[in-house]
Amino acid sequence: MKQQFSLLVLAMGSILTMSVFAEGHHVAEPWTVSGLHANLAAMPVGDAVRGEKLNIDMMCASCHGDGGQALSRNWPSTAGQRAEYTYKTLQDYASGRFVKHQGADAMAAVSGMLSQQDMADLAGYYATKALPVATVQVSLSDDAYRQTDYLVRQGDVKRLITPCASCHGTKGEGGINETPAIAGQDAYVFERSMQTYKQATRESDVHAAMRQFAKKLTDTEINNLAAYYAMQPKAVTKP
Ligand code: HEC
Ligand code: HEC
Repeated sequence: MKQQFSLLVLAMGSILTMSVFAEGHHVAEPWTVSGLHANLAAMPVGDAVRGEKLNIDMMCASCHGDGGQALSRNWPSTAGQRAEYTYKTLQDYASGRFVKHQGADAMAAVSGMLSQQDMADLAGYYATKALPVATVQVSLSDDAYRQTDYLVRQGDVKRLITPCASCHGTKGEGGINETPAIAGQDAYVFERSMQTYKQATRESDVHAAMRQFAKKLTDTEINNLAAYYAMQPKAVTKP
C-alpha cells in the first residue's frame, strides 16, 4: 500500500506535464504509471443508464450477461468490477497492443467500435452491480485452502511475491485505481487470465507487476488461487 501510495504521488505530479493523452488516442508504448494515471484522470464521467443500453445494443450481454454476470465459463464476468479497470481494459483491447493472445480477438474487434464515452458508460454500468458469483465451484482440500489463504494474505517473502490482498483487497473486492476486483470470477477464467500474465502474452500491467508475480507461481498455485477466489465471498466465512 505504501508503495502504491508513493507511485500515486509520483503520478499526480506528472499529470501536470502530460499532454500525450489529451486527445484520447491510444498510445503505442506500454503504460507508464504517469501515463496511466493521466489517462484515468481524463476518463469521462460514466452514464450507467446509457451503459446498460450499450451492453445490450453492442451485444456485450450475449457473452458477458445482462448485468455482467457471464453466461458461460468462456467469458469473464464484468459485474461489480471497478470502473477504472473496465475502462482501461477496454482501451487495452482496442489498442491491440497490450493483449496479444488469441482469446482476446473478439474483444479487440468489439472494443474498436467504442468511443471513450461508451467505454466509460459501460464501465460505470458494470460498477453499479454486485460482484459476480462463480457458477462452477472448484473445491480445495483444507491444506490447499490454508496455503492459498497464506499466499493471499502474507505473500511469499522468499520469492518476493506481494500479498494479493494488499492490492486486490482482503476479500478480492478490488483496490485503488485500476486494481481489479477478482472475487467471484469463474476459476477457469481466472486461471486463463493468470496464465496470460505468466506467459507474458498480456502486457497491460504497469511495471509488469502481475507478470512478475505470475511467473513465480507454479501452475498448481495458480489453479488453487483461481479456486480460492471463485469461492469468494463465501470463503471469507469458511472456518
Ligand atoms: C463473443 C463474445 C464477446 C462479446 C460479444 C464481448 N466480449 Fe468482452 N470478453 C470476451 C472474452 C472471451 C474475454 C476474455 C478475453 C481474454 O482472454 O483476454 C472478454 C473480456 C472482456 C473484458 C475484460 C474482463 C476482465 O476481467 O479482464 C471486458 C471489460 C469486456 N470483455 C467487456 C465487453 C464489452 C463492454 C462488450 C461489448 C461492447 C464485450 N465485452 C463484448 C467475449 C466477448
Ligand atoms: C502490487 C499490487 C498487486 C499485487 C500484489 C497483485 N496484483 Fe493482481 N493485479 C494488480 C493490478 C494493478 C492489475 C491490473 C493489471 C492490468 O491492467 O493488466 C491486476 C490484475 C490481476 C488479475 C486479472 C484480473 C482480470 O480480470 O483479468 C488477476 C487474476 C490478479 N491480478 C490476481 C492476483 C493474484 C492471485 C495475486 C497474488 C498472487 C495478485 N494479483 C497480486 C495489482 C496487484
